[in-house]
Amino acid sequence: MKQLIQKLTETFSPSGYEGAIRDVIRAEVTPLADEVRVDQMGSLIVRKGPKGGKKIMIAAHMDEIGLIATHIDAKGFVRFTNIGGVRPQNMMGGRVRFVNGTRGVIYAEPIEKPSDTPAIEKFYIDVGATSDKNHPVKVGDVCGFDRTFMDLGDRLVAKSMDDRIGCAVAIEALRALKETPHEVYFVFTVQEEVGLRGAGTSAYGVAPDLGFSIDVTGWGDTPGIKNFIVALGNGPAIKVKDGGMLADPRIIHWMTSTAEKNKIPYQREVLLGGTTDATAMQVSRAGVPVGCISIPCRYVHAPSEMVDYNDVQNAVKLIAAMLSNPVEI
Ligand code: CO
Ligand code: ZN
Repeated sequence: MKQLIQKLTETFSPSGYEGAIRDVIRAEVTPLADEVRVDQMGSLIVRKGPKGGKKIMIAAHMDEIGLIATHIDAKGFVRFTNIGGVRPQNMMGGRVRFVNGTRGVIYAEPIEKPSDTPAIEKFYIDVGATSDKNHPVKVGDVCGFDRTFMDLGDRLVAKSMDDRIGCAVAIEALRALKETPHEVYFVFTVQEEVGLRGAGTSAYGVAPDLGFSIDVTGWGDTPGIKNFIVALGNGPAIKVKDGGMLADPRIIHWMTSTAEKNKIPYQREVLLGGTTDATAMQVSRAGVPVGCISIPCRYVHAPSEMVDYNDVQNAVKLIAAMLSNPVEI
């Protein structure tokens, strides 16, 4: 599974430009699925199981945060703004790759107090150009952070673990799901990082009876963090609440009881800020009971995000077990 995680995290697909990652995922899921289609927004919808069963939607977003060029100055420096939650303190000295293959380095103008973090307007991308003539980047071109995958044994580090690790878990759960009484839809959504857009439209199209998302959550187990107990290696986190959603108690019970029955470790999660695709699913159409299975992840939205491989494998086991048996909700 590590090879799959490497392949998914080393693909560049910022929000709105999910074509590359969709091709990679489609190649993985096609031999495993009963039906594969792409909806109008670009989300990849993968069905497994007989039609007429309970419709269960599982959403993992395939987009990643990135940057978009706003203008190119006379000396060839590219000014930009963010696509999704990019923090200035995570950019200095970073490398980027544009969707068209152009690479560059990010730096910022000098600021008065060197201990301050410059505002995003002070940053630029240097692609090695010396003027705006014949420049490889156009206004509106999009890039992602350029970092290779790193295998530290139990701990794995990469850009876009948010949420390629959720995509990897969904693919492996589909692979592990030999038989299901349900009409299961694994949906690899677009444009999560800019406002859960693909999950909302996909949920409308699929019209599920219930569902959940698979996404990363924060971490509480590094120096200086208080009041958040989720830790890497303690199992996948079963979300109770985040900044946008209260999980349905019946979905929480389905998750926790399946974990306990199968002796899969898990932790309970209450996240103060941030949210996932489940929020958009929950308020789709006439409403959908939802929850979320989170992969604890350090340094979310920095170019090097870290997860624990055991949590990842236990999430796969939990989801495959949940989908293999009837569910009364
Ligand atoms: Co994110
Ligand atoms: Zn995410």
